Amino acid sequence: MDHFSTDRLTAERLREDHLADLVALHHDAEVSRYLGGVRTPEVTKAYLATNMAHWDQHGFGLWTVRAKDGAFAGRAGIRHILVDDVDEIEIAYAFKREFWGQGFASEIATALTDIGLLQLALPSLIGIVYIGNAASRRVLEKSNYLLERSTNRHGNDVVIYRIRR
Ligand SMILES: CC(C)(COP(=O)(O)OP(=O)(O)OC[C@H]1O[C@@H](n2cnc3c(N)ncnc32)[C@H](O)[C@@H]1OP(=O)(O)O)[C@@H](O)C(=O)NCCC(=O)NCCS
Repeated sequence: MDHFSTDRLTAERLREDHLADLVALHHDAEVSRYLGGVRTPEVTKAYLATNMAHWDQHGFGLWTVRAKDGAFAGRAGIRHILVDDVDEIEIAYAFKREFWGQGFASEIATALTDIGLLQLALPSLIGIVYIGNAASRRVLEKSNYLLERSTNRHGNDVVIYRIRR
């Protein structure tokens, strides 16, 4: 579970030394537009600690994603999330801008969904997306997630997609 790969990407369990890449990713306003806004290095440091602890507690979590030449491409994963007081498990993904528009998110979403439903045997997975994030909504639809409902999270209108085993 610490590593997996797809046709064009490799994924490794989030580690302390991924901090600089994550800080740069989260500092890009375009990348963070639908992720709650740009995060300071301090906030990303806390984010990394939280997500490493998630691995320790649950045995799965976020991975750092690289192109096959080793270049940092983004981060993606499967994690617990409280939605309207219900413990859900979501898939998440964010790529550096130069990696957009090449099908990488779709490739990783398919892999995450297989890991979640088949390897982890989870009953269902969700995706939570800002209503205006058309690219991410399309990623979920292409991975066979169905639109379930809309809600508000931290003041933002979001839609919830779900796929069941
Ligand atoms: C959202 C994101 C992950 C998409 O990554 P990507 O690798 O470019 O996605 P893909 O190349 O797999 O394309 C996904 C689909 O969305 C479509 N798409 C891309 N941009 C779009 C847009 N602005 N509007 C509508 N559809 C769009 C693509 O055409 C593709 O559909 P298709 O295969 O039917 O043509 C990427 O833009 C990103 O990292 N954004 C910042 C972080 C983020 O928002 N993460 C998701 C949070 S829920």
